[in-house]
Amino acid sequence: MKSDVSKSGIPLDSIIHGDCREELYRLPEHCADMIFADPPYNLQLAKRLRRPDSSLVDAVDDDWDAFASLHEYDEFTRDWLTACRHVLKDTGTIWVIGSYHCIFRIGSIMQDLGYWILNDIVWIKSNPTPNMNGTRFCNAHDTLIWAKKSRDERGYTFNYRTMKAANDDVQMRSDWYIPLCGGSERLLTDGLKSHSTQKPLALLKRVISASTRPGMTVLDPFFGTGTTGAAAKQLKRRYIGIEREPGYIAVAQQRLAATETGTQSQDCNLTDLDAPKPRIPFGTLVELGLLKPGDILTTADLKSRAVVQQDGTIVSNDFRGSIHTVAAAVAGKHTCNGWQFWMYLDTVDGTLQPLDTLRSIVRTQLLNSTRERQEA
Ligand SMILES: C[S@@+](CC[C@H](N)C(=O)[O-])C[C@H]1O[C@@H](n2cnc3c(N)ncnc32)[C@H](O)[C@@H]1O
Repeated sequence: MKSDVSKSGIPLDSIIHGDCREELYRLPEHCADMIFADPPYNLQLAKRLRRPDSSLVDAVDDDWDAFASLHEYDEFTRDWLTACRHVLKDTGTIWVIGSYHCIFRIGSIMQDLGYWILNDIVWIKSNPTPNMNGTRFCNAHDTLIWAKKSRDERGYTFNYRTMKAANDDVQMRSDWYIPLCGGSERLLTDGLKSHSTQKPLALLKRVISASTRPGMTVLDPFFGTGTTGAAAKQLKRRYIGIEREPGYIAVAQQRLAATETGTQSQDCNLTDLDAPKPRIPFGTLVELGLLKPGDILTTADLKSRAVVQQDGTIVSNDFRGSIHTVAAAVAGKHTCNGWQFWMYLDTVDGTLQPLDTLRSIVRTQLLNSTRERQEA
């Protein structure tokens, strides 16, 4: 079931059939930028749940969710979380989703193994299943633990600006309101749910948008119906799925074949908000002819001026150097940001603009041409 094995031996965009505790070790070390895991919950349902009208509730009573004891579940959890460390890049992050039945045990084991928790996200189900017996609160949320591989790791991906922009320019919070998977999104086999715990695509899209960039590899060791793969494909990420039940693999393969890959212009605009900005030195503005040797820069109050030189330096009175060192000398400070300090005359509208405006124009042109090349 491995379809696309890259040169590095990484089976990208494919589903591996097997037990993730073994299959993860067969994969090359550090092949995943992010892991999303939706493991068995260990619901331990002793008897079938019924509604007040005696009809049966479609609960999770699958074999894959059955463990003989909490101890056995903990051992299982420790094994797969340890195996995940083999494939996860040092700069990668891991998401684990679970309900109150399991998430506290999982969180504790994650910390024991060295993972460092960044957030716990509360996925609030806007349409939860009611508590049928009226004996406790309606359980209306699941928890997602988001962790990096170790406490000291600094290089993980978090698309802060993307999340904020998607949230109407308000910092994204850790409570996410997303409905349960239903309607046409719910996969059916012979009229019945193909999988008892298919997750909403919207949830996975947010997780992937937040913590990866286009082209990165997302690994899901409990692939089920392939929700992670479908979201990754739509967002132009690569995926690797592991699933032990062939029936679910067949459903996921069909689903992924029908899922269209997002185009660069559809999915990358927001992510670009967090893309590392290309460095544009001042000399580049001169090389590109946006400023010419001899052009005058001024301070905002027009009290000081500097002349642009052929070699990308500037001169003000007796000072010659970079826009920053000359700005610092003129301002009488130890350091000074020349991009903000120096103004140029915008000949189109006759206004004074900080040099930073010119730099932004060049950056945008550069990013647009890179995107056009990628789309071609
Ligand atoms: C909670 S479900 C995941 C559902 C999935 N997120 C979706 O949206 O369809 C857990 C899945 O893990 C699979 N599974 C359980 N134990 C496994 C193991 N040791 N290795 C690989 N897959 C396993 C089960 O067959 C089940 O499909």
